[in-house]
Amino acid sequence: MRRLFIKTYGCQMNVYDSERMEDVLAPLGFESSDDAAAADLLILNTCHIREKAVEKVYSDIGRYRILKEQASAEGRQMLIVVAGCVAQAEAEEILNRAKAVDIVVGPQTYHRLPALVEQATEARRRGSRQRYIDTEFPASEKFDRLPAATGRSAPTAFLTIQEGCDKFCTFCVVPYTRGMEISRPVVDVLAEAQHLADQGALEITLLGQNVNAYHGRDERGRETGLGDLIRRAAKTDGIERIRYTTSHPRDMDESLISAHREVPECMPYLHLPVQSGSDRVLKAMNRRHTSGDYLRTIDKLRAACPDIAISGDFIVGFPGESDQDFEATLELVSEVGYAQAYSFKYSRRPGTPAAEAENQLPEPVKAERLARLQELLNQQQLQFNEASVGRRMKVLLERRGKHADQLVGRSPHMQAVHVQVRPREETPSAETLDDLSQAAYSSHIGKIVEVEIVSAGPNSLKGRCIELSPARTAA
Ligand code: SAH
Ligand code: SF4
Ligand code: F3S
Repeated sequence: MRRLFIKTYGCQMNVYDSERMEDVLAPLGFESSDDAAAADLLILNTCHIREKAVEKVYSDIGRYRILKEQASAEGRQMLIVVAGCVAQAEAEEILNRAKAVDIVVGPQTYHRLPALVEQATEARRRGSRQRYIDTEFPASEKFDRLPAATGRSAPTAFLTIQEGCDKFCTFCVVPYTRGMEISRPVVDVLAEAQHLADQGALEITLLGQNVNAYHGRDERGRETGLGDLIRRAAKTDGIERIRYTTSHPRDMDESLISAHREVPECMPYLHLPVQSGSDRVLKAMNRRHTSGDYLRTIDKLRAACPDIAISGDFIVGFPGESDQDFEATLELVSEVGYAQAYSFKYSRRPGTPAAEAENQLPEPVKAERLARLQELLNQQQLQFNEASVGRRMKVLLERRGKHADQLVGRSPHMQAVHVQVRPREETPSAETLDDLSQAAYSSHIGKIVEVEIVSAGPNSLKGRCIELSPARTAA
């Protein structure tokens, strides 16, 4: 057995890729371990989106270098691989700055890792210090070469259906690190969904840097949009819940919006980044939509699915953003009412057009705006959670909680719910669970149960299990 340790940074697509790297390395005898010091192969699956994310990678490589030296002193060989978006963006720089790195592999070529690892292992045996880079963009070769996803018997699973981005927002590195947009064929996606369901997944999250730009070909060679893909994936035996992320406002078409009305498996939650509420800034960002377009899309979504929870991404302090522009963002937030959101200070990314702009804002202005925006978003999140108190909802139990009789899952709206599995005396219909051992509590993981929400905090809900329904119950 060889030990594999993977550290994953960045978005869910990297989480998916890390799992696929485990799959592709399994035939070489690699087993995943959470002990970096004992690893034979240590992979950093990196993110390039903001400067901080990149700094973190270099400082972590520094720590892992020490582990590698210790391993070497004990006569063990450890290989360090940098994968993901930093690998794609600055392969040469990594090799120059970090001598401990043996292999650099991009997001489109990690299916070639087995060969690279064997070459490097062999080279080290011979005493050679040769290092390896593979950051090609061989159009969609990766998905054809990867083995079937293992699925890990988890109740929730990610499934990448689309990669890359052609939108070129002026602040963003993704079109450079992930390349041109490609969509996987419909049959491949459906086969992977069925495979994941067979492994125990009840919920799948369809992933893409621009997931709703999906336009994969079906059996007859016709282009299929995300709305129709969801309709077909919903028929997968065993799949109860479908989510998708991340969407671009321009690609929210009628078919996708109506899927939220028509497909019970399509969860009432949508992450729809807007970045700014100012049309002037949106234009400078090359988002190719206005705040009005965005608000109209939200209205349509709410008409199709009245209780849909909306989440978003925001950037404050984009070059040239005035006080007025920032106020427009706050106004948009007030108008939408977010259930959840991510917000960031603009980070200058080398090679992107906005990095060259002369009107960069000073750090304190960005920090002050971020604090104000986050205060508003946090308020909205708490409000959204508090509105759930007293309601009953289906929760997919995913893992054990801190307390012995508590399990944690997600509501249809993506809220984390801490569920008291043991029913209270005042719940007449409840099964008696008092004699359940701790192991028995765990056996409820992977079930969708009816929960009454009893309290709410800023980041999660607490609920009481009303009924332990059979394992596969519609959400
Ligand atoms: N494809 C998605 C977003 C991918 S990146 C979309 O189009 O919305 C995830 C988020 O990181 C973005 O939504 C944006 O809010 C943030 N981000 C991207 N580049 C950034 C930068 N240079 N500085 C700060 N935040 C950035
Ligand atoms: Fe980046 Fe814009 Fe593409 Fe999203 S749509 S990945 S923000 S370039
Ligand atoms: Fe980061 Fe690459 Fe995802 S830059 S956000 S890991 S696509």
